[in-house]
Amino acid sequence: MELNLNNNRNNYTKSELHEDQLPLHPFDLFSNWYKQAEESSVYDANAMVLSTVRENKPSSRVVLLKELNKEGFVFYTNYLSRKGSEIKNNNAVALNFYWRELEKQVRIEGYAVALSSIASDAYFDSRPLESRVSAIISPQSQIVPSRRFLTEKLEEFNAKSNPIKRPDSWGGFVVVPESIEFWQGRADRLHDRIVYTHISGIWKIHRLAP
Ligand SMILES: Cc1cc2nc3c(=O)[nH]c(=O)nc-3n(C[C@H](O)[C@H](O)[C@H](O)COP(=O)(O)O)c2cc1C
Repeated sequence: MELNLNNNRNNYTKSELHEDQLPLHPFDLFSNWYKQAEESSVYDANAMVLSTVRENKPSSRVVLLKELNKEGFVFYTNYLSRKGSEIKNNNAVALNFYWRELEKQVRIEGYAVALSSIASDAYFDSRPLESRVSAIISPQSQIVPSRRFLTEKLEEFNAKSNPIKRPDSWGGFVVVPESIEFWQGRADRLHDRIVYTHISGIWKIHRLAP
């Protein structure tokens, strides 16, 4: 079955991004946009596409932003998963947020650094019990024979009084950004694109052509 979407086009008119509105630090603009996304009831506003590379081949998947701290953008995952092993070999990553309701996109490029075990423990212990157990029993990204294999692992785990402790193979990464682009959809495809680039400790600001 083929799809022809040539005539699927929206005009973007909800907002504008001007140089005189820009904070010096891109995290301040990100927080401001994030609040707008939450206030506009964007579903899963913290969902972001994470791209990694292995041998020059990219792969992408959605993960959830759990924190923006002084260093960068924090998410949690299985360190032995496909993304985890790709980051181990090459920690250059990209993140992408698309908030359709706001006609906004944010593109982040940087490098992923594993969180300390103390920080990962703290987040793991804050998760609902079921999520903690799933993280323990699921060999993320490995081929498994069936769904039943997983539900049986879960039942076996729950039948014993196992300690509910963060496995060493599960934890957080912080994505330390080197550049952050803010894209605001505008009418007639003349969109606003402002990119912050971190050079020698200073955030430089440029406008890009749409
Ligand atoms: C909305 C949404 C949120 C997700 N959040 C996470 C997450 O925070 N961490 C995670 O490891 N996987 C998350 N996933 C699952 C990943 O997209 C992916 O399937 C999984 O991490 C395995 O990816 P990998 O095999 O490339 O390592 C999420 C998926 C969706 C659709």
